[in-house]
Amino acid sequence: MSSITIPQKRKILDRINQIVEDSEQGFEDKLQDICELLEEEIEIFDWVGFYLVDPRADRELVLGPYVGEPTDHTRIPFGKGICGQTAETNETFVVQDVNQEDNYLACSIHVKAEIVVPVKKEGEFVAELDIDSHTKDSLTDEHRTMLEKACESLANLF
Ligand code: SME
Repeated sequence: MSSITIPQKRKILDRINQIVEDSEQGFEDKLQDICELLEEEIEIFDWVGFYLVDPRADRELVLGPYVGEPTDHTRIPFGKGICGQTAETNETFVVQDVNQEDNYLACSIHVKAEIVVPVKKEGEFVAELDIDSHTKDSLTDEHRTMLEKACESLANLF
């Protein structure tokens, strides 16, 4: 199972902290850079994006910055798909084989595994980081803990 080394994890988290603290860049550009970094650094990450809670809608996510193929799922109600379920539980959702999930919104036939990590600002769910992989059973505990740390850092942007 492919995973990440400790130096690689440290490098990614350091870089995310730099992006978060960069005073030159705006919110959207920072989220975009974080998507690009994760997609470039981790071979099995094929689509990386953010869904944000839409403050003008009733329990709905709206697609934010992302890297990868365009998706039809630009708005997702809470409860729908892996993303919508994460919005309800506020817990990381790891799916090693999307074909085993009933409540799943397909973006591309190539996607086999998915992880969604909530972003919480002072305990309140504000967004989520969604990552798709074309490789089944590819998501490890190292990926999960690294992404949860990343989401803790970037929560400061909200
Ligand atoms: N698969 C997600 C939808 C978003 S796409 O992966 C970009 C879901 O089931 O919620």
